[in-house]
Amino acid sequence: MQKNMHSPSAMKIRRATREDAAALAEFGARTFFETFAADNTAEDMAKHLASAWSPQLQLAEIDDPMLDTLLAVDADGAFGGFAQLHAERAPADVPTQRPVELKRFYVDKPWQGQGLARELMAAVEQQARERGARELWLGVFQRNPRARAFYSKCGFRKVGTQVFVVGDDPQADDVMLKELT
Ligand SMILES: CC(C)(COP(=O)(O)OP(=O)(O)OC[C@H]1O[C@@H](n2cnc3c(N)ncnc32)[C@H](O)[C@@H]1OP(=O)(O)O)[C@@H](O)C(=O)NCCC(=O)NCCS
Repeated sequence: MQKNMHSPSAMKIRRATREDAAALAEFGARTFFETFAADNTAEDMAKHLASAWSPQLQLAEIDDPMLDTLLAVDADGAFGGFAQLHAERAPADVPTQRPVELKRFYVDKPWQGQGLARELMAAVEQQARERGARELWLGVFQRNPRARAFYSKCGFRKVGTQVFVVGDDPQADDVMLKELT
C-alpha cells in the first residue's frame, strides 16, 4: 500500500527558532499570496507582502516575548503550516478576561483537508493555555469560507467584526472567539 505522504503523523509541531526566520518569511509570503491574491490588486498585495514578510521581520517576531510561533515540519525540515499567537491581546469591543490572539494560521495546500490543521490548532490551544488564556480569538476575512468553516468546526463563534488593511485596502474580517476550558 502506498504511504500517505500527507498524513499529519509525518509532521512534528515545534516552536520556531531564530534559524527559521528566512524560511518562515518565504513560506508566510507564499501562503498569504496563494490564499488572497485573487481578492486583492497586485499593488495592494505587493505592499502588504513587503510590510509583513522579510527575514528581519520574522526574526523580530521570533524574538518577541509576546509572540509564539509554531511550525509544522516534516522529517526533512520542510514546513507544512505555521501558527502565530499574540499573548494578552484583546479584540476591540469584545469583553474578554485573559485573551490570546491567534494572529496567523496557515496550512500549505498539499496538507489542507488532511487533518494537519486540527493538529496545529490543538498545539495552538495548548500554547494559549500555557500563556494563561481563557479566550482564544482571531480575525478571518469574510471572503474566506474555508477558514471560517474550519474555525467553526473547531468551536469558534463569530462575536464581531474588525478591519484588516491589505496594502491600501481596508477589508472586513469576522472576529471569532473560543472559550478555553
Ligand atoms: C484555513 C485552513 C487552516 C483550514 O485547514 P483545512 O485542512 O483546509 O481544513 P479542513 O479541511 O479540516 O476544514 C475545512 C472545512 O471547510 C469546508 N470548506 C471548504 N471549502 C469551503 C467553502 N468554499 N465554503 C464553505 N466550506 C468550505 C470543508 O468541506 C471542510 O469542512 P468539513 O470537514 O466539514 O468537510 C487551511 O485551509 C488554510 O491554511 N488555508 C489557507 C490559509 C488561510 O486561509 N488561513 C486562515 C487565515 S485566517
